[in-house]
Amino acid sequence: MKKGKKLYEGKAKILYAAPEKGFAIQHFKDDATAFNNLKKSTIEGKGILNNRISEHILSSLNHIGIETHLVKRINMREQLVKLVEIIPIEFIVRNIASGSLTKRLGIEEGTVLEKPLLEFCYKNDSLEDPLIAREHIYAFNYCDMATLDRITKKCYRINDFLQGMFKAIEIKLVDFKLEFGLTKLEEDGSPVVKILIADEISPDTCRLWDATTDKKLDKDIFRKDLGNLIEGYQEIARRLGILHEQSNISPIKFTKPTAVKIKKK
Ligand code: TMP
Ligand code: ASP
Repeated sequence: MKKGKKLYEGKAKILYAAPEKGFAIQHFKDDATAFNNLKKSTIEGKGILNNRISEHILSSLNHIGIETHLVKRINMREQLVKLVEIIPIEFIVRNIASGSLTKRLGIEEGTVLEKPLLEFCYKNDSLEDPLIAREHIYAFNYCDMATLDRITKKCYRINDFLQGMFKAIEIKLVDFKLEFGLTKLEEDGSPVVKILIADEISPDTCRLWDATTDKKLDKDIFRKDLGNLIEGYQEIARRLGILHEQSNISPIKFTKPTAVKIKKK
C-alpha cells in the first residue's frame, strides 16, 4: 500500500496518509522513550513486535465488539487504521500499584487494588501529561459528559477482557494506558459518533508481569534498565502464540541510551 504524506510523528510511531480518505498508515518505529523523552534509545525489533502484539490485542477487541481504529496489519511495521479525532486524554487503568501511582501516593509497588482504578491524564507532552480530575475534563471541554461515561464503561470492560486474556497465558495485567478517538459516520441516514480505541496496546503501553515470578516483561525493562527489552516482548508474543511470524528479528542491537536526567515528580 502506497504511503502518502506524513501526518504526524510521535515518539514511537509515524502516521502517514493512506490512499483512501479517512484512513492512515501507522508505522511502528524502534525508538523507545521514557520519562517524557528524558531517556531515549533505539531498540532494533521493538516496532515489529509492538505492531504484531498490538494487532493481536486490537483485533481480539474488535471481535468482541469493542471497536478500535485498526483495519488490518499491512506488513511487519505498518497497520492500516481509521483516522479519528483524538480525545486529548490518556486513560490509565490500574489493577496493581506500580509506577507513578506508587510515587504519588506512597503506595507499595505490587499492592493489589481492591478494584480497578481509572485515572485521567491530559495528553500534553510539554506539561508532562498531568493527572486531571473528571471535572477538568468537563471544565475545559476535553470531552463531553456522555462520551466520558461511555468511555469509562469501555475502560472497565477492556480491563476485564485483557486481564482474562493475559491470565490465560500466566501474565498479570498490572496497568495500561488507552487512548480514544471519535469518528462521525452516517448510519441509516442519521449521523452517528463512534468511539474507537485509537492507539496501540502493547508492552510499551501496559505493565505486564509474569504471574509466578513477577518478572517484568514490558517497557519498565527499558525505563529501569532491567535487562533485554526484546526478550520480554518476545516472551509476551510467544505466550500469545504469535512469535513464529516474526522470528527473523535478529540480530538484536541496542544503541547506547542517552544520558538520563530524571526529574523527581
Ligand atoms: P505510570 O505509572 O507511569 O503513570 O504509567 C501507567 C501505565 O500507562 C503504564 O502501563 C505505562 C502507560 N503509559 C503510557 O503508555 N504512556 C505514557 O505516556 C505514560 C506516562 C504511561
Ligand atoms: N511514553 C512516555 C515517554 O515516552 C512515558 C513512558 O512511557 O514512560 O516518555
